[in-house]
Amino acid sequence: MANLKQQAGIAAANLAQNGMGIGLGTGSTVFFALERLAERQKTENLRFFGVSTSFSTTLLCRKMGIELKDCGCVSHLDLAIDGADEIDPDLNLIKGRGAAHLLEKIVASLARRFIIVADCAKKVKNLGEKFPVPMEILPAALGLAEAEVKKLGGILKIRMAGDCKDGPAISDSGNIIADANFGLIKEPAALCKELDSIPGLVGHGLFIGLAKEAFIAGEAGVENISL
Ligand code: A5P
Repeated sequence: MANLKQQAGIAAANLAQNGMGIGLGTGSTVFFALERLAERQKTENLRFFGVSTSFSTTLLCRKMGIELKDCGCVSHLDLAIDGADEIDPDLNLIKGRGAAHLLEKIVASLARRFIIVADCAKKVKNLGEKFPVPMEILPAALGLAEAEVKKLGGILKIRMAGDCKDGPAISDSGNIIADANFGLIKEPAALCKELDSIPGLVGHGLFIGLAKEAFIAGEAGVENISL
């Protein structure tokens, strides 16, 4: 799989051009795009700045020598490259396995071209086949979010931090990370709209109509999907 992720990451990084502002997603596929961008800086003297979507990506950029600008100081980007957990035939997505979905959605929305990089295992017919929908919730809104998700037919489960911390996983912005299981999501746009309207639910991992292009790598090569 790593090899497929690498092929997809490289294909997207090859779209970078001098002078661009580039949104840099989070995850194991984006890692290979970062690696390729850093390589192109050295071998082709490629000049660009990145906007990071997570502490994780910021640390990688620091190590690889990729210049970053703060997300809040940028009003548009030429390109954003990011991975996904599930991709449906319309390039609607579930994102947020790594809890970076709030910033990832802001950065994707800043970009003129938002490009998904993934291996073919991420393709699904309907969202919700394999992954629940990640949520980022203000602590004060946890009870409300739980009740509203239930009304929408879902079950909200707080994501636990695991061995490195007692209690819930906390996002880079200091909010609680939870996952909402809705089963198969037949009307993702409608669900997205409902989730957008819950006060204190600051982010969720349904990305509807944001991605128009994808590089999806399989055994037969990299498929370039463009809507
Ligand atoms: C980060 O929170 C996620 O949205 C990732 O972008 C997504 O999980 C894809 O990650 P991989 O490329 O590691 O599968």
